[in-house]
Amino acid sequence: MADQYAASAASAVPGGPRSPGVPDLVPALRWEERPEGPVVVLLDQRRLPAEEVELVCTDVPALVEAIHVLAVRGAPLLGIAGAYGLALAAVRGFDVEESAQMLAHARPTAVNLGYGVRRALAAHRNALRGGADAGAAGAAALAEARALHREDAEASARMAAHGLALLEELLPGGGYRILTHCNTGALVSGGEGTAMAVAGAAHRAGELRRLWVDETRPLLQGARLTAYEAARAGMAYTLLTDNAAGSLFAAGEVDAVLIGADRIAADGSVANKVGSYPLAVLARYHHVPFVVVAPTTTVDLGTAEGAAIEVEQRPGHEVTELAAPSVPGAGTAAGSGVPVAPLGTQAYNPAFDITPPELVTAIITENGVVSPVTEGGLAELCARSRSG
Ligand code: MRU
Repeated sequence: MADQYAASAASAVPGGPRSPGVPDLVPALRWEERPEGPVVVLLDQRRLPAEEVELVCTDVPALVEAIHVLAVRGAPLLGIAGAYGLALAAVRGFDVEESAQMLAHARPTAVNLGYGVRRALAAHRNALRGGADAGAAGAAALAEARALHREDAEASARMAAHGLALLEELLPGGGYRILTHCNTGALVSGGEGTAMAVAGAAHRAGELRRLWVDETRPLLQGARLTAYEAARAGMAYTLLTDNAAGSLFAAGEVDAVLIGADRIAADGSVANKVGSYPLAVLARYHHVPFVVVAPTTTVDLGTAEGAAIEVEQRPGHEVTELAAPSVPGAGTAAGSGVPVAPLGTQAYNPAFDITPPELVTAIITENGVVSPVTEGGLAELCARSRSG
């Protein structure tokens, strides 16, 4: 049944699945110089997997709106988008400081967004302080965005290598059955992503027996996006409703959980897509490793503990209505989807939850692995990036 689903999902993807072993990196975001001025081009993730449609942002409000509606999403890519957004403001002559505020506050939980904006802003300010004119300062902001984009791709490759080595150590028998949640692949990264990059490395090593993909209610990042990426990579994958994870663990079908993160507090608490915390509880009960894969840009040493992380609350209509992703604008406004609850129903819709460090077996970064998760170990991994 699983393989049958994989085939039908793949046929919805233009071009179909690529050869196993060949990573297929979807350009989720790119900077493009056009005669009328530079633009940030996004792959509109609301429309996947039905259509690969580009969304062209000519100014910062358009990019902020794209972030709000999750046309562009996922922590590392939000950082990259924030940096290019700042560069767009600078190069096109908009108010850079105001644009920085708008971009950095477009969504609250993923720490990468503010990080990307601040990096490009600092490059812009430094250039101006050094006597650069507006054009040269814009170019400095753009160079910084490009550097962040490149670094994220490099971090992704390093996390994949560290992750594969960890899996070999934790599960010496090979043939991994990995459960993942939300979407953590090339769609959220300059490279192959975070958790999905590790799954990709296991796949290329011939050791990924099955990728279990949580559908990830309410916006279905697992069903729409992770299944899309898994199909393109030729992985053996099976989609499940979030509620089915418990019986999957009980049946002994999960060898490890691999997820990404939107923000990791100094104590190792992990904010990630809502539904991650219940998986950590299940994993602990069933003695299954629960592994978080995130670049050090997702670690926020300025936030002491999980309780201090702001969790984004999303509109209730995302729960009370089912969106049709292939319809432009569907799901972005109340009333645009198919109702699945009586009119006027209130919904609890946090976008993320917090997993305490004691439930996390390991955190994999580009600088190595911390396991068990300790404040000191995490700080030490981060210091390796920040000093070099
Ligand atoms: O609301 P989203 O789709 O932006 O949430 C994304 C996630 O929760 C991802 O798991 C997280 O950003 C890690 S991706 C590398």
